[in-house]
Amino acid sequence: MRKIEIATSASVFKDISELSSEDRMLMEKAISSRKKAYAPYSKFSVGAAFLLENNQIVLGNNQESAAYPSGMCAERVGVWKVSSEFPGVKIKKLAISASSSISKVDKPVGPCGACRQTLSEYEINQKQPFEVLFMGEVGEVVKTESLLSLLPFSFDSSYL
Ligand code: THU
Repeated sequence: MRKIEIATSASVFKDISELSSEDRMLMEKAISSRKKAYAPYSKFSVGAAFLLENNQIVLGNNQESAAYPSGMCAERVGVWKVSSEFPGVKIKKLAISASSSISKVDKPVGPCGACRQTLSEYEINQKQPFEVLFMGEVGEVVKTESLLSLLPFSFDSSYL
């Protein structure tokens, strides 16, 4: 038996005002997309903004359904828009913001496991990490250098 340690690191900013102007601009896009989410059941709205290497910004937000499992997270709505509109164009950054109409979300909300897995496909394919920034409605913003840093022991096509 041997033990291994997998380290990950992230930068934590006190709020959106501490971000670089590019990061702040992207987070503001995620916030505006979040406000258009369709989340009548969970009341939990998420917005995602992708900055591509061609400087296009692609937005996504969560879309729910009365048949609950048929809904979709903001990050997957967004990344599939990226891949369907701009196949092969690299993602530079992803910003995510979440809020709830029931309570104030003041902690950073990272992407769910299924979204991490889906997003990892695109980071691996583009052979270049993309930064991930995430926050709640207010407060701290977490920034990681890559998607895979959020997904140790991930599954990928090499196992198939
Ligand atoms: N949600 C996202 O959009 N992204 C995540 O990473 C976590 C959860 C959405 C799905 C659902 O519409 C609502 O938030 C509550 O789970």
